[in-house]
Amino acid sequence: MCGITGYIGFRKAYPIVINGLKRLEYRGYDSSGIMMYDGKDIHLSKTKGKVSDLEKITNLENKRKQGYIGMGHTRWATHGVPNDVNSHPHFSQSENLVIVHNGIIENYDTIKKELVTRGYTFKSDTDTEVLINLIQEVKNNEGCKLGKAVQLALTNVVGAYAISVFDKTNPDEIVVARLGSPIAIGVGEDNTEFFVASDASPFVEYTKNAIYLEDEEMAIIQVGKDVEVRKINDDSIVDPIVHELQMSLEQIEKGGYEHFMLKEIHEQPKAITDTFRGRMLAEENIIKMSSIEDNLDKFLNADRVIIVACGTSWHAGLVAEYLIEDMARIPVEVEYASEFRYRNPIITEKDVVIAISQSGETADTLAAVKLAKSKGAFVYGVCNVVGSSIARETHSGAYTHAGPEIGVASTKAFTTQITVFTLLALKLGKANKSLSDVAFENYIKKMQLIPKQIEKLLEIDEHVKSIAAVYKDATNCLYLGRGFNFPVALEGALKLKEISYIHAEGYPAAEMKHGPIALIDENMPIFVIATNKGHYEKVVSNIQEIKSRAGKIIAVVTEGDIQVKEIADHVIEIPDTEEALTPLLTTIPFQLLSYHIAVLLDRNVDQPRNLAKSVTVE
Ligand code: F6R
Repeated sequence: MCGITGYIGFRKAYPIVINGLKRLEYRGYDSSGIMMYDGKDIHLSKTKGKVSDLEKITNLENKRKQGYIGMGHTRWATHGVPNDVNSHPHFSQSENLVIVHNGIIENYDTIKKELVTRGYTFKSDTDTEVLINLIQEVKNNEGCKLGKAVQLALTNVVGAYAISVFDKTNPDEIVVARLGSPIAIGVGEDNTEFFVASDASPFVEYTKNAIYLEDEEMAIIQVGKDVEVRKINDDSIVDPIVHELQMSLEQIEKGGYEHFMLKEIHEQPKAITDTFRGRMLAEENIIKMSSIEDNLDKFLNADRVIIVACGTSWHAGLVAEYLIEDMARIPVEVEYASEFRYRNPIITEKDVVIAISQSGETADTLAAVKLAKSKGAFVYGVCNVVGSSIARETHSGAYTHAGPEIGVASTKAFTTQITVFTLLALKLGKANKSLSDVAFENYIKKMQLIPKQIEKLLEIDEHVKSIAAVYKDATNCLYLGRGFNFPVALEGALKLKEISYIHAEGYPAAEMKHGPIALIDENMPIFVIATNKGHYEKVVSNIQEIKSRAGKIIAVVTEGDIQVKEIADHVIEIPDTEEALTPLLTTIPFQLLSYHIAVLLDRNVDQPRNLAKSVTVE
């Protein structure tokens, strides 16, 4: 939540900082701000609204665009409503220091009261303005430079932060620090320039070299010098690792699509192929996953697997439960990370805990990982963002390799998470002989077809669009599925809610009779997954029950279906596959449907209201 950018070097900072903010807008977009230092003065512009609104106001004042040092911020409000005053950057009282901050200072109120007794006044309601004044106070008292003042101030802070701070009285440096929120430093050739950002996307076209700060580390960044990284608590020097970025500019641009979400839906065949790469060796009928092979005894001897995640990743966890129990016969529990971490769960050394996270930064999931580790469990991560906090904190794991997901509504991350779990379940099932060789080989054969099948499935776009036009004004929708497709129903409902703002609920189809059936009337669209395997006949009965109450049925069926076609109002066909693999296909029409409804309703598809891509606060 919240994105920060910064630049110090030989280029004009304004376009780098403002374009960087646009790339980070997925992290929060209720207000934004920018600070430019022109060699003499600090110029600060900030406003409620999007980065494009900020651009309009800074466009008016050319002076603000001069200078080779700048910092920016795009905000998802935690303390204080989104308005101009609460937007970042924030000045210290002296107006010599400026800060941008991502995270929460939990003890800000205590610090604020103390600062008030020392004569400080505050313009905003934010915890960030408190922090910058604390840094100012320490600097005044100690008579030290900015780096030391930041370090000392942070030892008094409880909470989470990624900060970038600038001091007009010593304008050759930017000081950054991290605890719980990510920060990347882009290193220009021969240290001639440096970039600061919440992830590497703002600087990928300028440098491929990045340093990722670890928790409790800070860095002093000065042109012409190596970045100086220290531990905040004991002042020890850290030798930073410079990573080579794999990300390309094309991956983070829309590439001709109207929205990132649509682009990412269409990227799924490639994303799944990338997830397979080096893992599914179809010719040899082998699944190679060194993270499983190296820890096979832990998985096979586990009392149970506990999966922790949030949102869409939690839905992928539910699919994983069905897959692992079905294919490998290992008991699985799936927990919301936020509940798990606070409910005093029983975890033993014989448990394997798997954390799923696209961003790898979700605060609750990260905390669940730390808790599980502290209880001695083996912790495995399934993340998309390489080098993210969860990927680093877990004992081992597998990346999904979906590439950057920028649309706030998760699409390709979900299907690639399911892909990883299908491979994992097959691998474990083969290893403990729960799956016969014949069944294993058949799954491999069918898995291999999935990317092409999705490619074909995406051709239904126009058909789905026409269905979207019929139901776009619905106020409530129901999504039903059974077995492997129950989590897909949950995910379908979540996608619709988050980008169209239409209320929707997902249910196991048979549960409909235990309550939701009371909602059904002629105005209620019900999206039902009725593929030909598994519980087809049961789902057909559920559809009949809905029809006899005048509900509108939009059914996702297998190609060639006859029975459901006769009773449903609309059908969307998916190619035939094994039941366990259907979630990879049934998900696609629901993604497209939510997308088209949101577009028809003129919603902000990539940046829906109140949401943020990476939820780094509790
Ligand atoms: C929904 C969505 C969220 C995330 C959730 C977890 O489309 O994107 O529900 O799935 O915030 O995020 P990660 O996977 O980054 O931990």
